[in-house]
Amino acid sequence: MRDLAVVLVAAGKGERLGQNIPKAFVELAGGTLLRHALNAVSVVDNLLQVVIAAPEAYLEQAREIAASVDSAGFHIDVVQGGASRQGSIANALAAVDFGAEVVLVHDAARCFAPAELFERVADAVRESIAGSGGAGVVPVLPVADTIKIAAAEVILETVDRDHLRIAQTPQGFPSQTLKAAYAAATSEFTDDASLYQAYGQPVISVIGDAQAHKITVPSDLERASADRAGSALTRNFSQGNKTFRSGIGTDTHRFAQDNRMPLILAGIEWPDEVALDGHSDGDAVAHAVVDALLSAAALGDIGGNFGVDRPEYAGASGEVFIRGTLELLAKHGWSVENVSVQVIGNRPKLSPQREAAQARMTHLVGAPVTIGATTTDGLGFLGNSEGVAAVATALISSTSKVG
Ligand code: CTP
Ligand code: MG
Repeated sequence: MRDLAVVLVAAGKGERLGQNIPKAFVELAGGTLLRHALNAVSVVDNLLQVVIAAPEAYLEQAREIAASVDSAGFHIDVVQGGASRQGSIANALAAVDFGAEVVLVHDAARCFAPAELFERVADAVRESIAGSGGAGVVPVLPVADTIKIAAAEVILETVDRDHLRIAQTPQGFPSQTLKAAYAAATSEFTDDASLYQAYGQPVISVIGDAQAHKITVPSDLERASADRAGSALTRNFSQGNKTFRSGIGTDTHRFAQDNRMPLILAGIEWPDEVALDGHSDGDAVAHAVVDALLSAAALGDIGGNFGVDRPEYAGASGEVFIRGTLELLAKHGWSVENVSVQVIGNRPKLSPQREAAQARMTHLVGAPVTIGATTTDGLGFLGNSEGVAAVATALISSTSKVG
């Protein structure tokens, strides 16, 4: 049963990171910190609701990021943050209203905390509720360094580190009791567990995860970026027996004469743009991706496989062709490593929806899809906005097939 709400706090300024934009909206490894955090949250079991607290000036951007995740089965709300972390959480808790029994509070700044950590914390809260304990749950790691207490430069004593733990998020609580604890709080606490404890409630720990470290200063960003690149490399090249193939595809569609239909490109709608003509939905990006995948697998092209003259594909969405293509590839032992697309034309302007388009295509293809755009310097049918073209390349791999 869905019983879980996640509060994602992303309303801090990120002053120590020094990037002049709020930390959760800083780009790292192909997405904002908020997006990475949301990606993990969105696949957590039994999720009922996610509430994001964002800075006032970034509410719209947070809503766009929220709209681009696959949120089948749960609600996503965006609320304005407060002046302090505690204030942001108080605002978000007020929006937790779909009857979730368990709530997890998580820093968007710990953007690579894996879904399993959320589940571990949530399970411990459920277990405590079932045993009438109602405990708060903190993920912790042991302290590796020796810790000293000092007064200025004078060391007073060495702390017994066996009793020390580093606290992380997500921290989990029975939601009604946490709401009551927040309502009763009269001073600022550094984490939710200490606020909960000050309210007279028990707090227990589960083992944390090194990936849940918080991005605070610029070197944290560098380290996280290097970690991501390293793990992608190991993932992609650790298997020496893999066969790789690359493919290319292009597609062009003209803009329709009437503008009653929305423009669909890269599987999403583009408001205030004119639709593209075609036997199908005219999604030039999706079609170029399909051709790139088919060409990499030496399985022909979109026309040969999904006949543009076949009535069952009339008006079909790009998603239908992508799904059919992935099934064909899988049948032949291929899986997709990555796809990259370039859109060519004057319209639509990609940037406002680039992240949403990439997320949608990445979701459909099941592997990273990046999307760029260029114009033709005003030349030709793409320069005078008669239509849109897209070029895609794909890299696919197989462990079973050679040739
Ligand atoms: N946070 C928040 N609202 C605030 C302050 C912080 O939602 N008013 C969130 C941050 O977005 C972050 C988490 O709380 O995800 C942890 O805070 P911290 O690491 O201190 O982030 P910032 O406050 O953004 O960073 P800094 O203190 O360097 O400005
Ligand atoms: Mg802060």
